[in-house]
Amino acid sequence: MHAPNPDTPHPDTPPALFTWEFAADPYPAYAWLREHAPVRRTELPSGVEAWLVTRYADAREALADPRLSKNPVHHSESAHGKGKIGIPGERSANLMTHLLNIDPPDHTRLRRLVSKAFTPRRVAEFAPRVERLTDDLIDGFCERGSADLIHEFAFPLPIYAICDMLGVPREDQDDFRDWAGMMLRHGKGPRGGVARAVKRMRAYLADLIDRKRGEAETAGGEDRDLISGLIRASDHGEHLTANEAAAMAFILLFAGFETTVNLIGNGTHALLRHPAERARLQDALAAGDDALLTTAIEELLRFDGPVELATWRFATTDLTLGGQHVGQGDPVLVVLAAADRDPRRFAGPDTLDLARRDNPHLGYGHGIHYCLGAPLARLEGRTALAKLLTRLPDLRAAGAPEELRWRGGLIMRGLRELPVEFTPVPPSAAG
Ligand code: HEM
Repeated sequence: MHAPNPDTPHPDTPPALFTWEFAADPYPAYAWLREHAPVRRTELPSGVEAWLVTRYADAREALADPRLSKNPVHHSESAHGKGKIGIPGERSANLMTHLLNIDPPDHTRLRRLVSKAFTPRRVAEFAPRVERLTDDLIDGFCERGSADLIHEFAFPLPIYAICDMLGVPREDQDDFRDWAGMMLRHGKGPRGGVARAVKRMRAYLADLIDRKRGEAETAGGEDRDLISGLIRASDHGEHLTANEAAAMAFILLFAGFETTVNLIGNGTHALLRHPAERARLQDALAAGDDALLTTAIEELLRFDGPVELATWRFATTDLTLGGQHVGQGDPVLVVLAAADRDPRRFAGPDTLDLARRDNPHLGYGHGIHYCLGAPLARLEGRTALAKLLTRLPDLRAAGAPEELRWRGGLIMRGLRELPVEFTPVPPSAAG
């Protein structure tokens, strides 16, 4: 018999979660959970206890289970505990009635309304604008030969894109950029305060909705933007209150912003760390072949996606999940990042394979809350990565991977900064 290796963690010893090391690479810990405790009650850094679901099959089941409510009223903990879940500031700013906090039938009604305004056609028509924004941002640093891709590229692109789409006038978009920056800092720093940023956005959006409602009454005809579309959708027989409209605009901004920052950031980071895969994609793009770009975006979402954990769910009744008893009122968090590396579902799950075909990843969720903005996210992700790799062909990481700092938030996974170097090039002709 061999003596046990003192360096090998005992299978009964759970790995440390939510440390800085974990943030840098959570995948070994998730592999342990998947194998040894696939549905595990865990104390989160906030002190709230929740069930973490890490296997693909259980994750899909949980995301589609109507007994798991999105409405925080079903949370069993004290009012004190409840304050620690959800988006900071949304409760006090009266923004709770958005898609990610409600169940059918309210969810069905609101989702139908927003789907009427957020159409695939509207997203497709937006493609030239996203291309232009992307080129302008690259023009801002391409002659320098170095950049921080998070602050100069991944962060501004989605905020300007969603502002344009909602109909926020260009002159106000830098305010949004500031508020979004405050949200990203998660309340830290001299001008921090997620709750303060949320309140300012709320006040601005309420005012904008009022103005657009006035314009819609006088103008008629085609909706120029998403907020006007939302107002019009509600005018066609279905009811969208002023508060619901503000909460909807807010969740579109909130859900569509940091996620896309992290798709571009995590995606570029993964490509820089996998030179053979990156060269394969660059060759395909140079040959005018976009097919690999399509599978690449999905693979990057699976391999190191922006949404590490799906948003909160609460058991409305006692139930069994992955063989584990979950009590009524218990919070459940589905770990998308763990499910998307489950070897029971994905061949070679820890390998980045940009041409992966069988890839039903959960990066956009599953079931009735499946990401509403997926077509816009795909458009932004495709445009950003294709333009970066084409315009800055020798793009490379500046500094060692272990120097990179990851954000410590619970739901999202993303880098604080991504310093890069490249041979300087002139701005685009259009710029
Ligand atoms: C790469 C970027 C994105 C990723 C990875 C992503 C991921 C997700 C995920 C995982 C969910 C489901 C959460 C859950 O069930 O707990 C979701 C929902 C949602 N997403 Fe996205 N998202 C992205 C971009 C966007 C964009 C650009 C928008 C809008 C402009 C958006 C709007 C929404 C909305 C409104 C929901 C709630 C849908 C509902 O509850 O019915 N997302 N997203």
